[in-house]
Amino acid sequence: NAPVVTIDGPSGSGKGTVAALLAKELGWHLLDSGALYRLTALAAINHGVDFADEASLEVLAGHLDVQFEPGQDGEGMTIILEGEKVGANLRTEEVGAKASKVATQPKVRAALLMRQRDFAHAPGLVADGRDMGTVVFPAANFKVYLTASAEERAKRRQNQLQLKGIDASFDQLLADIQARDERDMNREVAPLKPADDALQLDSTRLTIQEVFSRILDGMRQ
Ligand code: CDP
Repeated sequence: NAPVVTIDGPSGSGKGTVAALLAKELGWHLLDSGALYRLTALAAINHGVDFADEASLEVLAGHLDVQFEPGQDGEGMTIILEGEKVGANLRTEEVGAKASKVATQPKVRAALLMRQRDFAHAPGLVADGRDMGTVVFPAANFKVYLTASAEERAKRRQNQLQLKGIDASFDQLLADIQARDERDMNREVAPLKPADDALQLDSTRLTIQEVFSRILDGMRQ
């Protein structure tokens, strides 16, 4: 039974960055569970599957042919879907929005459950997502719920995109984030919410480094 730390929260709260930092610091495995929902959405697009067709989405999710390989420079991951390297399109807003639609389907969530639990092996796992502490790893050793105001999260997305040379409208990004929050928090199965025993952190006015040290402090207590 390897130790597990879960980090859940809404889009743009910084959980992905913090989870990666923490996994590196501890030398543990990292589960980016959002990537599995994004990959399911991408596979559905590639195969022309209708997003309302729950039975086909369940089959896709259950049979996802995907490999996660450490990136060449030791940073990030190379993801291979059905034999082909997945590019930057996995991270687009469009695929994120489709992923959050796919994620409302109980059968898709069930199909991905075991695959996520399989990531928990020695020496330990940092799991990043929406329901890591509530559903996938309810017995986790330490749970974090990371949030930030929607405006701050939209601003962060805008800055991230700017670094890639993409100019995105703040109002559009804010609307996208609010739509995704709405869907993630109000779906019937595994809605986004803090686990009862989670350390809740609001990162609106905290740097990544501050969030990171608060989590390490919490883990040591
Ligand atoms: O990068 P960002 O935080 O915007 O999204 P993500 O973590 O890649 O997740 C994309 C979508 O997948 C989310 O909006 C959720 O609807 C869904 N998801 C989920 O339902 N459960 C998870 N454990 C992770 C992601």
